[in-house]
Amino acid sequence: MKIAPSILSADFSELAAEIERVASEADLLHIDVMDGHFVPNLTIGPPVVKSLRKRTELHLDCHLMVDNPGVLLDDFAKAGADGCTIHVELGDPRPLFERMRALGLAVGLTLNPETPLADVLPYIDEIDVLLFMSVHPGFGGQAFIPEVLDKLSAARRIVEQRHLAVELEIDGGIGVETASAAAAAGADILVAGSAIFGSDDPAAAARRIREAAWPTSS
Ligand code: DX5
Ligand code: ZN
Repeated sequence: MKIAPSILSADFSELAAEIERVASEADLLHIDVMDGHFVPNLTIGPPVVKSLRKRTELHLDCHLMVDNPGVLLDDFAKAGADGCTIHVELGDPRPLFERMRALGLAVGLTLNPETPLADVLPYIDEIDVLLFMSVHPGFGGQAFIPEVLDKLSAARRIVEQRHLAVELEIDGGIGVETASAAAAAGADILVAGSAIFGSDDPAAAARRIREAAWPTSS
């Protein structure tokens, strides 16, 4: 049961300070990497991760919304990323899983809202994290797509039946209103950007999301 603030909605001119403001309630940091091709937005790359690595010990999970993640993995690993998550829509992810393992990166796989669960199931016992996009990737602050919860709960059942170690994560439109449905469907990790960094008190906002999701845990 983890909260992963997405720094996409933080003030990029004060990233280290923004992370410090949320660190007490963050289990990991979600870093949205966009290349202007796979999604129509352009954000963060390895140099920023390298700078952040010096300022935080939090697990840095890089969500790679890029056409060619393979060319970036070495640089993210060198920069100090702890894990990378790649999109299944790009094709067979196995060669990249091997590269990530060799680089010591946690292995994440993600699927867009319209992508069927069947597309990721062949890999479910080879990954550390399965990330369900609950918005169309590219921008923070979009509305949660509730249909994604069916895929998440189906994956949760498979994980339980097969006693798999993979963590299930959901990203997009998560806030106090949607957190409990995401947790009930079986999410282990909630990513939230605008609901946390759009708040005057990001740590309090993260705490409220955690309490809404997992009331008995706090
Ligand atoms: C969207 C990103 C998300 C984004 C979520 O492409 O992958 O991580 O930061 O933002 P919110 O929480 O505002 O929907
Ligand atoms: Zn993301």
